[in-house]
Amino acid sequence: MKILTPFVTLLFLLCTEASGETCAPAFCSREEPVIRFPFRIGSHQRESCGYPGFDLSCDGMNQTILELPNSGKFTVLGIDYAEQEIWVNDPEACLPKRLLSLNLSGSPFAGVYSQDFTFFNCSSSYFKYRLNPIACLSGSNYTVFATSSPRIVTALSPSCALVKTVTVPVEWPFDEQVISSDLSVDLRLQWGAPQCGRCVLRGGRCGLRGNSTTEIECTNIRQRGIPRGARYAIIVGVGIPAILFLLGLLCFLCGRVKSCARGRRPAVVGEFATAVAPQSALVSGLDGVVIESYPKIVLGESKRLPKPDDSTCSICLSEYQPKETLKTIPQCNHCFHANCIDEWLRLNATCPVCRNSPPQS
Ligand SMILES: *[C@@H]1O[C@H](CO)[C@@H](O)[C@H](O)[C@H]1NC(C)=O
Ligand SMILES: *[C@@H]1O[C@H](CO)[C@@H](O)[C@H](O)[C@H]1NC(C)=O
Ligand SMILES: *[C@@H]1O[C@H](CO)[C@@H](O)[C@H](O)[C@H]1NC(C)=O
Ligand SMILES: *[C@@H]1O[C@H](CO)[C@@H](O)[C@H](O)[C@H]1NC(C)=O
Ligand SMILES: *[C@@H]1O[C@H](CO)[C@@H](O)[C@H](O)[C@H]1NC(C)=O
Repeated sequence: MKILTPFVTLLFLLCTEASGETCAPAFCSREEPVIRFPFRIGSHQRESCGYPGFDLSCDGMNQTILELPNSGKFTVLGIDYAEQEIWVNDPEACLPKRLLSLNLSGSPFAGVYSQDFTFFNCSSSYFKYRLNPIACLSGSNYTVFATSSPRIVTALSPSCALVKTVTVPVEWPFDEQVISSDLSVDLRLQWGAPQCGRCVLRGGRCGLRGNSTTEIECTNIRQRGIPRGARYAIIVGVGIPAILFLLGLLCFLCGRVKSCARGRRPAVVGEFATAVAPQSALVSGLDGVVIESYPKIVLGESKRLPKPDDSTCSICLSEYQPKETLKTIPQCNHCFHANCIDEWLRLNATCPVCRNSPPQS
């Protein structure tokens, strides 16, 4: 009985905490993102359930709408509360038009990745370059293109009208030079304040403190307020088996990596071969610093990827899930789970998909 008491107390604590919810999450429809602090839906949640500048609304089609002070209305496609990122697009399906007048100042948001694009307005007969036109901005006798390549800017300048150069909060770090893009992919924005990401990651509930309009607090973090007895019981009951499990896993993984390396060894017979060929010479992977330098992203709730048809990791063959960390090889723009590609590149210096060799330096 004495052993059970801490668990009963713990259960009781968790139950009372769950019932203390005052700002329940809301949504415009079941398919739409779940809205909670710092966002709120004006018509569904009290003012104190959101942070200033994070008000959303639902439109006639039950889409979630964010109105930016200097740029108008955008549809919300996904929100990652832990990473503090939001994906938006144009409700009228012509994002490039909105980009020409996008001004994030006065809003709490900024681009995660930004890239300058120059818009050109060319006469229709202008198809010398095989560019990707922006259909919704083009007409019957003119075509609009956007490029981030200085080479294309130079090539188009004499014959086309330069419309504007704008900084686009792209969803993904593109190659240095995008020859042309129709710029229809969602904008990926992030916010710095309020900083609720860590609270969300720890399973807490972020909200305004008391009657304050800007001060936040993090409540309901799981470990909080657990009596010492329960903590002790958890350490003994969960901690020790977990450590043993991790140790086992570590040994298993070490064994696997070693056997992989061994598998790659040339088939030379006898102890002599092992003595003359040190293991490091057989593993022709990339340098750790190079591997570390590749761009990483954490997938948001919307799981939107740079290439929409590319939804599985070709190393472990499992589908990407929200919150997973992915990594790209910049030279070929293929992406993988960060863990999978790290392990691969340590053993092989080529992209597993296209077999291109990333440069060593
Ligand atoms: C919006 O949602 C409401 C109820 O959630 C539903 O009755 C209505 O049909 C929806 N409207 C559209 C356009 O889907
Ligand atoms: C954005 O809007 C603010 C406020 O209206 C203005 O001061 C600023 O110049 C604008 N920025 C651009 C790049 O237009
Ligand atoms: C492109 O030029 C045409 C006239 O040639 C004009 O009507 C149109 O508004 C221009 N488009 C943009 C985006 O500047
Ligand atoms: C576009 O073409 C139509 C006829 O095809 C012509 O009447 C019109 O003036 C043209 N517009 C421009 C801006 O060249
Ligand atoms: C919050 O405001 C209400 C009335 O608006 C007031 O009754 C209450 O005392 C305030 N609480 C704090 C902590 O200031």
